Amino acid sequence: MLNDSLILGIETSCDETAAAIVRGGRQILSNVINSQVVVHKKFGGVVPEVASRKHIENIARVVEHAFRDASLEYGDIDAVAVTNRPGLVGALLVGVSFAKGLAYALDKPLLGVNHLQGHIYANFLEHPEVEFPLVCLVVSGGHTSLVYMREEGSFEIMGETRDDAAGEAFDKVARFLGLGYPGGPAVEGAARLGEEGIYHLPRVFLDKDDFEFSFSGLKTATMNLWNKLKRDGKQVEVHHLAAEFQAALVEVLVEKTISAARHKGVETVLLAGGVAANRALRARLEGRAREEGLLLYCPSPVLCTDNAAMIAACAHSDYTRRRWAPLTLNAHPGLSSL
Ligand code: KG4
Ligand code: ZN
Repeated sequence: MLNDSLILGIETSCDETAAAIVRGGRQILSNVINSQVVVHKKFGGVVPEVASRKHIENIARVVEHAFRDASLEYGDIDAVAVTNRPGLVGALLVGVSFAKGLAYALDKPLLGVNHLQGHIYANFLEHPEVEFPLVCLVVSGGHTSLVYMREEGSFEIMGETRDDAAGEAFDKVARFLGLGYPGGPAVEGAARLGEEGIYHLPRVFLDKDDFEFSFSGLKTATMNLWNKLKRDGKQVEVHHLAAEFQAALVEVLVEKTISAARHKGVETVLLAGGVAANRALRARLEGRAREEGLLLYCPSPVLCTDNAAMIAACAHSDYTRRRWAPLTLNAHPGLSSL
């Protein structure tokens, strides 16, 4: 049953308590996501201690729900996979402890999964035809990286953000402009009502011949422009400002991704992570990939943001290679390596 494995995935690295069952690393049998967005909305961002408490309250019910949706019994699965890095340590620990207990009780293998690798594998759930080698742009609330995958299980970071992640910049700008929470969808909604180019914001690092990003300067430039216009007594059109901020961020992400693909000579490009749900990013990358003759794959929006199906999918290759984790598996908040 190694190739047709039934893997239970568990994800609690941030503010979503999620469980899913995936067959053979590709077929989703259930995908349950309990979002804490309404809880954290009051605070304008994720409060780590509150996230951990909510995971504790929700985890057993969410896992049970995943089995019910898949019409399976606990004993039917072949392995338990859990996100154990990177993320909020208290939040991660809830999933890791639950997964360890379940694996021990069921006498099934345990697999520890890197959350960012999980985001990349969301692509394989919907596009089993994806071929290596490839370049993937991973854009989430905590990370922005260009990753080269020569083959299954091999991850080389070509470049990363030096400061804020793309999602973090969306969230901070949304909060500053009073657009709401979570910031990405709020800025995207506002930008749809505005026009880019009315205001001018920098395309940071676009002229640099590497694959590094920096979004903290763009965020500050957006805030400074807003403050200056206000100080000068000018009317600020928040929709135009949101559109220009999004366009500046998207242009850098897209052009760096295209040059990374050219640099590595690959034909396939993947998009992954919560910010990959952004329609402006998807559309622009689709257009540029077409122009360059590259094959682009993006997960559906629901598989871009945090979920456990991507964790179960990612664990499949470690399961088949018997790279199982010991019951001493721990949570690691930082990212030592991808
Ligand atoms: O991958 P994810 O769900 O969690 C992390 O691993 O961080 O990503 C969450 C991030 C948040 O910063 C959120 O604002 C952003 O993804 N996001 C978006 C959109 N949907 C979610 N950013 C831009 N446009 C969106 N439509
Ligand atoms: Zn994520």
